[in-house]
Amino acid sequence: MRGRQCSPVRRRVATSADSRGRRSPGRALLQSPLSTGVDLTAILITKASDVLTEEEIAAARPTVDEINRLKAERNAVVAAHNYMTPDIFHMAADFTGDSLALANMALETEADVIVLAGVLFMAETAKILNPEKTVLIPDGEAGCSLADGITGADVRRLKESHPGAPVVSYVNTSAEVKAESDITCTSGNAVEVVESLGAAKVIFTPDQYLGRWVASRTDVELVLWEGSCEVHERFTGREISEYKEDMGDLAVIAHPECPPDVLAEADYVGSTHGMIKWVAGRRPDRVMMVTECSMADNVAAESPGTRFVRPCNLCPHMKRITLDNIKRALVTMTLQVEIAEDIAVRARRSLSRMLEVGRRD
Ligand code: 13P
Ligand code: SF4
Repeated sequence: MRGRQCSPVRRRVATSADSRGRRSPGRALLQSPLSTGVDLTAILITKASDVLTEEEIAAARPTVDEINRLKAERNAVVAAHNYMTPDIFHMAADFTGDSLALANMALETEADVIVLAGVLFMAETAKILNPEKTVLIPDGEAGCSLADGITGADVRRLKESHPGAPVVSYVNTSAEVKAESDITCTSGNAVEVVESLGAAKVIFTPDQYLGRWVASRTDVELVLWEGSCEVHERFTGREISEYKEDMGDLAVIAHPECPPDVLAEADYVGSTHGMIKWVAGRRPDRVMMVTECSMADNVAAESPGTRFVRPCNLCPHMKRITLDNIKRALVTMTLQVEIAEDIAVRARRSLSRMLEVGRRD
């Protein structure tokens, strides 16, 4: 959706429930594909065996073998977001995490090539932080409704309307928007980033819901933009409260991209990383993760005694990434992410300032 300065809207889209409750073995190994003498695929398959069926593993294995061979040949790593499907997350990824973790990984890896199994803004972030490395995105159409909802020109107009107010932009934005911003943030550090500026008034783009959640936790005045995530905006407080009425012992944890009536029903609100940590620490009997579907598949095993209830919304952009197009990216060494130098320099400054703030979840 295209955005504009905030005047909130809401639309309701039906969701379906899924509570398969299958156990998953936890997050993928953070392991170098270059560690020789190790059957990396076999190790990863052991980790995947509780979340994927034997047939799914057998079908994936030839592609995973080829990906691992190519990773070693190219000195490449696959960095996968928490929303990747379990075959990618458990069988092909060297690094997994939320947006902030993937940005940090991009800075720290010694690989020459990073295949970003996630959406375009994540691949752009990796490239901006590592201009000398080759960053590949397996599908160039893997966008994001938040990133597509605001342009650099929009940010310039906001700055003209609110002279002197610094701009915080969510990392779910284009390189151009990051370049126009003073600092970026993720859902893992948005409040701390806003407060790090020491300003009474801050322009916060593009997610109106993350912005409202931050505004409820700080005294800083926020000027919001009317962007939203097409996946998280589908959840409603009403459906969450109906689940809670049906299941008395249900813990609810939600991503701050959800609308406020959803967040009001949640026992915990945080980034995908924070949600994983919350479940692992609290080990509730039953939990609903109000976020993209694949998360629960990927984290269930970190709390083996916990049953997962999923009001299932898939991100169509994240789901463009497959084992097949990860393999193709490594075979053809495309699509390579490139950012114009003048934009990259300014966007890097915004990202680096965010990384200095670090994470608080
Ligand atoms: P995280 O930074 O929490 O991983 O979220 C990214 C995202 O796109 C959520 O929809
Ligand atoms: Fe963007 Fe939403 Fe998909 Fe995350 S889930 S990548 S915010 S569209």
